[in-house]
Amino acid sequence: METNFEKRKLRDEEIDVLVEEIKKFPNPITGKKSWKTFEKVYIAKTLQNNLIGVCGTKKLNNWIKIGPFVVFEKYQGKGFGKKILDVLVGDYPQDDLFIGSRSPAVAKIATKLGFEEIVNILSVPNEIRWYLFTYIFENLSLEFFKECMRKKPTSEGPYRYFVRKRENINY
Ligand SMILES: CC(C)(COP(=O)(O)OP(=O)(O)OC[C@H]1O[C@@H](n2cnc3c(N)ncnc32)[C@H](O)[C@@H]1OP(=O)(O)O)[C@@H](O)C(=O)NCCC(=O)NCCS
Repeated sequence: METNFEKRKLRDEEIDVLVEEIKKFPNPITGKKSWKTFEKVYIAKTLQNNLIGVCGTKKLNNWIKIGPFVVFEKYQGKGFGKKILDVLVGDYPQDDLFIGSRSPAVAKIATKLGFEEIVNILSVPNEIRWYLFTYIFENLSLEFFKECMRKKPTSEGPYRYFVRKRENINY
């Protein structure tokens, strides 16, 4: 299927559609307020302008943090997730990349794109650890708690950390 790619902030009406869609999945738990903070989102759309999938990015000091990452249910399992991350990773040949997820599909895609899993949690870079902590903290709300109770995000499996470094560094 022909796909259009855009890299920009999401519009309010797109966020509304996205937030409804992700209610179907155990992860991510990303509300409207949080989606608005992503300045550069990789957006895949059909030629009819329907959302296929999105992936947020955050530029940290030394890292590009990838995610939240969502492919709409009707397009899942058709290679769109891989395609979106392929485009994204191709844009950052000079950067160190990080993605974390409980999703087995994300683990598969990241591994195929040359990411390595950090098995020792203590080896997660401090900047990433701090980002994840503040991300949760900043997004705490009654809605967030309600969604956690409803979705049971941990049921999908352990949160796994993947990195792709410019140089080979052992974790
Ligand atoms: C995770 C997600 C973005 C992947 O997108 P996708 O378009 O479905 O993925 P692809 O079709 O590119 O598949 C990638 C690989 O994962 C595999 N895969 C898909 N779902 C899987 C699952 N539940 N378990 C194991 N592997 C799976 C595919 O078979 C494929 O492997 P292959 O290339 O060897 O065939 C999408 O499934 C999704 O949005 N899930 C709900 C939200 C979510 O969990 N997001 C991630 C957490 S932030």
